[in-house]
Amino acid sequence: MSTVPILRTARTCIRLVQTTDVGKLLQFRIDNAAHFAPWEPHRDEGYYTLEHAAQTIEHTWEAAQADRGYTFVVLDPDEEAIIASFTFSGVMRGAFQACLLGYGLAADWQGAGLMQEVLQAGLGWAFGECRLHRVMANYMPRNERSARLLERLGFEREGYARDYLKIAGCWEDHVLTAKIHDTA
Ligand SMILES: CC(C)(COP(=O)(O)OP(=O)(O)OC[C@H]1O[C@@H](n2cnc3c(N)ncnc32)[C@H](O)[C@@H]1OP(=O)(O)O)[C@@H](O)C(=O)NCCC(=O)NCCS
Repeated sequence: MSTVPILRTARTCIRLVQTTDVGKLLQFRIDNAAHFAPWEPHRDEGYYTLEHAAQTIEHTWEAAQADRGYTFVVLDPDEEAIIASFTFSGVMRGAFQACLLGYGLAADWQGAGLMQEVLQAGLGWAFGECRLHRVMANYMPRNERSARLLERLGFEREGYARDYLKIAGCWEDHVLTAKIHDTA
């Protein structure tokens, strides 16, 4: 990682999650537990603790230093609360130059184009400074909000994977999409 990315959009500040964010990260998880539950792996009680949030932050920096992945948090304009997060994970270099994208926006901030604004900036960084060529994002067919968001961002459908991820305790099919950095 050459520099620590800080991205600003009209309505947010976006940066890698840092040690001073530990309380904000825990609050974001607690406040949105029911909102995220249908779309995430099952979380046990330990997930909703300061220790787990601190561990996430430590792992974020280890992964970023190793160029394995990048977990960003999105803060409100006053930088008082985390309102979203997204991760470029499983970075693969060589001939692939690809990663997987995952994201979540606080329930109260949905329906305002905020995640689109944030991911446009995040993808600019991924295809720019991070020099990735392909960002893949996959969603459950019933996750209509996620489908609309990816389509607006220019992700293209590439396939359909049966029993792809264990979400909320069940293996779930996913629609596979990707966005390519067209340099031509
Ligand atoms: C998926 C998720 C991020 C989508 O959030 P979102 O707010 O719908 O996404 P956007 O930021 O793109 O906002 C788009 C909505 O804002 C509306 N909007 C309002 N003002 C807007 C503006 N200025 N610009 C763009 N859109 C605007 C759009 O009409 C759209 O609403 P619609 O889909 O009902 O038509 C959110 O629902 C979420 O976090 N869900 C739970 C976790 C999850 O599913 N993660 C992904 C797993 S694959």
